Parts: sequence; structure tokens; C-alpha cells
Amino acid sequence: MVDESESVRSPSLGVWLIGARGSIASSLAYGIFGLRQGLIDPIGIATEVAPFNALGLRAFDDIVFGGHEISNGTLSSSAVELVRHGILPRDLVAACSGDAAALDARIRPGLLDVADSGDAHVNSETLALGGLSQRAKVERLRDDIIHFREEHGLERVVVVYLASTEPWTDERESWADLARLDAAIDANDETPASCLYAYAALRAGAPFVNFTPNRGASIPALRQLAEEVRLPHCGNDGKTGETLLKSSLAPMFAARALRVLSWQGYNMLGNKDGASLADPVRLRSKQRSKDAPLRAILGDETHTSVGIDYVPSLHDWKTAMDFVHFQGFLGAKMTLQFTWTGSDSALAAPLVIDLVRLADFAAARGEFGVMPQTACFFKSPLECDVHDFHAQFQSLVAYALERAPK
Ligand SMILES: NC(=O)c1ccc[n+]([C@@H]2O[C@H](COP(=O)([O-])OP(=O)(O)OC[C@H]3O[C@@H](n4cnc5c(N)ncnc54)[C@H](O)[C@@H]3O)[C@@H](O)[C@H]2O)c1
Repeated sequence: MVDESESVRSPSLGVWLIGARGSIASSLAYGIFGLRQGLIDPIGIATEVAPFNALGLRAFDDIVFGGHEISNGTLSSSAVELVRHGILPRDLVAACSGDAAALDARIRPGLLDVADSGDAHVNSETLALGGLSQRAKVERLRDDIIHFREEHGLERVVVVYLASTEPWTDERESWADLARLDAAIDANDETPASCLYAYAALRAGAPFVNFTPNRGASIPALRQLAEEVRLPHCGNDGKTGETLLKSSLAPMFAARALRVLSWQGYNMLGNKDGASLADPVRLRSKQRSKDAPLRAILGDETHTSVGIDYVPSLHDWKTAMDFVHFQGFLGAKMTLQFTWTGSDSALAAPLVIDLVRLADFAAARGEFGVMPQTACFFKSPLECDVHDFHAQFQSLVAYALERAPK
């Protein structure tokens, strides 16, 4: 066992990261270590400001990380990449090396999704796990989470799904309810890894946050499980960059009764997520969730399209170019064009900490099932037809004000 050097006081909240050495997970972990040491400011963390800071949410010192990962490597090797590309400050990484090593030692072998089976970087323990029955796999994942909670004497663990985008799978009969899903797991019927992770999290008594476009806990059987075990969950697909901008700007056109004829978007990204999106079946998952908000706000008559290309030299920096063709009074046709360049991981990491805190808060209050108040954080929010960012954010503010101490 590695000494717990991360916190000046005993942590009470575990954050279990699926995809624990990925770019977002690494940026999040180093970010929290840096915040604890006073090396960085909490920029971009919405729960640090009013009205959310009145809710008594978990402090950075209260958090300890663990997680599942399928790749070889270490957290510090992920950090080297992020330093090289200007995301993580070099001195922060050096100052937090002890914390990073402690987290690395807590990372357990993850479960492969089908599309990863030929990946040369997969660690041998993950490959060994592949030989088990599906039931034994989910039990192993569940036990890892329970062991983490018990070893650190944690009040609660929140599981955050940050693994690569899976190939899109159409809805299956066996997902319709929990009995059928259990039967499918027992029969070794292929089930997306994200669903098995969500199943394991809920069975371990942990709220589940799905930051990816993967199915996760969104299938009916797992929504049912979350209700039965009375745990909150939220997803899908973090709204960090271009979609955030689109869902903020599109309501303006709608409010002014301007007619948006076409909204054409083009994204270039160069990180591992971008590489996995070079696979057309995975790309479909992402395109579905990126295109939906615009159509929901502007209606189906607007022509919308999102192109995504992998451009390796960009690394974690994503560039989105959008062209909006719209019509005003007298039929005059006009355009808005914008270019957004952002670090995907630096945009995503603070959202994850907000979601962890809100899931923990909801669980502490006995709230369970889908967390509609978190819609503003997602491209495809569960059980929410509203995609207007401002309206979504106002719902979150209203949620917080209702629960803030009077
Ligand atoms: N960065 C953003 O702005 C953003 C926004 C929305 C959604 N997302 C999603 O978040 C996820 C993570 O993004 P990232 O940039 O950190 O990607 P990344 O590729 O850097 O990290 C993913 C990590 O997951 C690991 N992994 C893959 N399959 C796994 C499995 N079955 N079990 C356990 N670990 C597994 C990989 O080895 C890798 O370390 C992606 O699905 C991405 O689509 C990212």
C-alpha cells in the first residue's frame, strides 16, 4: 500500500476515474493536487462561485482519486505529454509527483471494449481480465470500487467515466429492463464496456457520471437499477467547447426570430480522443451528440452538419470553425463565422470536478435517478429536451438556491 500523502486531512470522498491515465483524468488529478498546494487558482470551476459555493460542497482536500485504466504507462508519462503541449505547467507536475505516484498505485486494470481488443498498448492485467465471464468482470470492477472505499474509510465514492469513445451500438432488447440486462450479462451477451462500468458502479453503491458520448448508465435497464439502489447519475458527453458556444449562440438567433439557414461546423483535434475518432464507428457516437443541440434549438429546417478530423500535430488543442448562414428582415442573407481554439482537457477537467461535487451533494441528500439539474454540462443531457445553455444554467442555479441554507 502506498502512503496517502495527498491530503492534509483524511479524505472523505473518493473519485474513481475510468480512463484514469487519459488526458482529462490526468489534467483533473494534477489540477486538484495543484489546487491543494495553492499552486493554481480554481479558474473554470463553477461550483467555486455563488450560488453553488453556499451548498457546503466537498473541499479539494476531501478528495482522493483511484480508477481503472487499460493502457500501459504511468500518470507521469501522461503528464509529460500534457506539459509538452502546454496544458500542464512543468513546475506543477514536479511539485505533485508524490501525489501522482500515490494515485498511479491505486489504478486497477480496466475492462476492454470490443474495439480496443487489438490495441498494442493494453496492459497485460487487462488482457487477463478478458478471459473471465462477463459476470465475473463486473464483479471485479465492483469489488475494486468497494475496496477503494473501504481502504480509505470513505463516506462515498463517485465514479466518473472518462474512457475513450466506444463504437455506437443500437439499442438492444436486453437493455430494456434490469432482469433482461442481468440475463444478458450471465449469458455473456456482448454489452458495451461503458454499461458494464456503470452497472459495477451502481452495484458498488457509487453515483455515476458519464462524461463521454458512450451509453453508460443511460440505457433503460441501468436507469432502473439507479432508481432501485437509490443513487444519482448523469450524462452524457461533456459540453466543453464548440457545442457550449453553439448552445449559447443559437438561442440568440431564435430569440431575435432570425432564420438560421445553415450551421456548418468543422472540428480538428489531435489528442488520443481524436485518434480514436478516426475510427468511423466511434465517430458516429460523437457526431450524434454534437449535432443534436442545434437541431433542438433551431428546428429541423436548419441545415446542420459537424465534421471531425484527427490532426495529430494539434495534440490536445482543438480548433472548431463554424459558419452560420442566416436570414434577416427583407430576406437579407448574412453570416457569422467564428474560430474557437481550446485545450480540450483544460476545458473538461473543471467540469468533472463540478459534476463530482454535485453528484456527491445529490447522493448525500438522498436524491436519486437522473440529475436533470446538470444538463448545462452535457451535449446530450439525460431526460432533458432543453439545449439552450442559458436556460439549462438557470435550472442549475434554481436547484442550488432551493437547497442553499437559508
Ligand atoms: N475533452 C473534452 O473536451 C471532452 C468533451 C466531451 C467528452 N469527452 C470524452 O471524454 C473521454 C476522455 O477524453 P480524453 O481526452 O481524456 O481521452 P484520452 O484518450 O486521453 O483518455 C481516455 C483514456 O481511457 C482509457 N481507456 C480506453 N478504454 C478504456 C476502458 N475500456 N477502460 C478503462 N480505460 C479505458 C485510455 O487508455 C485512455 O487513457 C472521451 O470519451 C471523450 O470523447 C471529452
